Amino acid sequence: METKVIRIDHDQIDVNLIKEAANLIKEGKIVAFPTETVYGLGANGLNEKAVKGLFEAKGRPQDNPLILHISSIDQLKTLVLEVPDIAYECINRYWPGPLTMIFKKSEIVPYVITGGLETVAIRMPNNKIALELISQAGVPLAGPSANLSGRPSPTNALHVINDLSGKIDMIIDGGETGVGLESTVLDLTGEAPMILRPGGVTFENLKEFIPDILQDLGTIIVDDSIIPKSPGQKYTHYAPKADMYVFTGSKDNVIKNILNQAEEYISQGKKVGIMATIETRSMYDKGTVLTVGSRKDMTTIAANLFKVLRMFDDEKVDVILAEGVETDHIGSAIMNRMMKASGGKLINV
Ligand code: TXA
Ligand code: MG
Repeated sequence: METKVIRIDHDQIDVNLIKEAANLIKEGKIVAFPTETVYGLGANGLNEKAVKGLFEAKGRPQDNPLILHISSIDQLKTLVLEVPDIAYECINRYWPGPLTMIFKKSEIVPYVITGGLETVAIRMPNNKIALELISQAGVPLAGPSANLSGRPSPTNALHVINDLSGKIDMIIDGGETGVGLESTVLDLTGEAPMILRPGGVTFENLKEFIPDILQDLGTIIVDDSIIPKSPGQKYTHYAPKADMYVFTGSKDNVIKNILNQAEEYISQGKKVGIMATIETRSMYDKGTVLTVGSRKDMTTIAANLFKVLRMFDDEKVDVILAEGVETDHIGSAIMNRMMKASGGKLINV
């Protein structure tokens, strides 16, 4: 299959191009599209056959449910049995934005979307191209991240081209995404609201108006006995090709230990990648050193993390030694992704 790549300027949207993409969606085809978090792989979320095509293109396990992307609140009401009051509060504060909420599904949502569950994940993305595409298509878009299953999520169109060219019908290049990590997943169907996947909207943000909010421990702790509640969280994810180790502890100890380990691996003839921050970059004098962002503004680390993991792949390193971050605010989402990318290889020094 030939994959058509079209470029759309986020600040000056060419509606004809959006219509072309929307027509493909209506025909049951697959179109990758930008959002503010990561690129999504879009298909008509109410068309079972189209949704099955998504799983095939990504190589994704069928029991891992998908998010439906919507462009209006009216659309939300058709997809869920009820919208709890707390959801309206979340909507007022964070939609459109990097927050996915889990509701009880209505009858029109096919089980292929929910992995057989009675609940459905829904979000309104904060990206004009995505919103226009959804509204022109006139259907909710099923939208997993547009990477091959297990690979780091794509934060620009080139990442999507590298993973999925030849497997999907169209890729909309809308430039770099902003947040860089996938949306926060908040379950509203249990006794108390619970974060199933940390993301751009943080625990602290939600705690401000949801005092009883919980965070699924499986998303922040490495422990085989704790099984994450969200189906997606149980899979190794976002993984670079190299073996990755994440070092946590005081800044000085982290640097010292990374340097020691780097020397050790290099003496074994391995190619070593070091993931540093702007503040620590100059401390590393060996290995392939990439700067992920600034410790003073962790949103920069979130924005670049997946891109840097893919750059290490391009550099063909054998091992990645990465500096961990504090787990408050957006740091919780960053460490969750680093934990998944490293297969839980955290080293506290
Ligand atoms: O930022 C994002 O959310 C991106 C962009 C494209 O919107 N999408 C994304 O989709 O990350 P995906 O499919 O890669 O991740 C969806 C996550 C998975 O961890 C899945 O298990 C969880 O949401 N999920 C979906 N439906 C669920 C449900 N009914 N109950 C629990 N978890 C659910
Ligand atoms: Mg994904």
